Amino acid sequence: GTPPLVIAIDGPAASGKSSTAQWVAQLLDVRHVDSGAFYRAITFLAVASGAPADLWTEASVLEQANRITWRLTARSVLPLVDGMEQDEALRGTTVTRNVSRVAAMPAVREWVNSQVRSAGSAVDVVVDGRDIGTAVFPKAQLKVFLVADTWERARRRLIQRLSRRPNDSEIAEEVEALVARDAQDATQSAPARDAITIDTTTVTQEEQVERIVALGRATRERLRR
Ligand code: CDP
Ligand code: CDP
Repeated sequence: GTPPLVIAIDGPAASGKSSTAQWVAQLLDVRHVDSGAFYRAITFLAVASGAPADLWTEASVLEQANRITWRLTARSVLPLVDGMEQDEALRGTTVTRNVSRVAAMPAVREWVNSQVRSAGSAVDVVVDGRDIGTAVFPKAQLKVFLVADTWERARRRLIQRLSRRPNDSEIAEEVEALVARDAQDATQSAPARDAITIDTTTVTQEEQVERIVALGRATRERLRR
């Protein structure tokens, strides 16, 4: 039969990838794969090892990788650490501070990519990350690249974190943190050549979700023929 559908959603930090991907997946009734969650899971174990971050090596980090598995839920492909869901710890500041360092390790990237590819070869998926349409699924049937102004991305990140409207000086501070992280990141998030770029700066999340869902439906139709 036809290979599973892969929709790749890439973009820089706080561009809206993971919440958009989750919503799109739900409307198309396929699974969401958050590739960042795999980077966070392996970083979580490196932190838990107790060794200081500057002593982490590819080998010491990857030694723990067999403690991470994934399972299919109705809506997603969920990474598990020692068989358990660790959603909150994975989003925490310690993991966030250290994840770029771990994601810069080529062998770690290979490991995450193989996890994500195995999920995407089993079921239809919407996958979000930094390099999904380029390195992980270069043949994804639909590739979307989300962008938004740095100020707007900082504002959204703070609303998410604080559950209130941030003031301008808070946003300015977050802009610096975002710019630093974008620079640190192993993948500089260049769009794939066949990606459709959507600037979400002045678009509501609902609108961008609708656009991607429409593209996803059209892609499905095309594949059926
Ligand atoms: O995964 P990534 O870091 O790219 O972003 P996210 O955590 O999915 O999205 C950051 C926040 O921006 C979420 O709270 C979204 O609801 C919000 N947002 C958006 O994604 N798109 C808009 N047009 C407006 C808000
Ligand atoms: O939401 P945000 O983009 O800040 O992060 P995330 O999607 O939760 O991913 C966490 C980190 O993992 C990113 O900051 C990248 O350093 C790394 N990552 C990556 O290198 N490649 C991916 N496909 C996904 C995440």
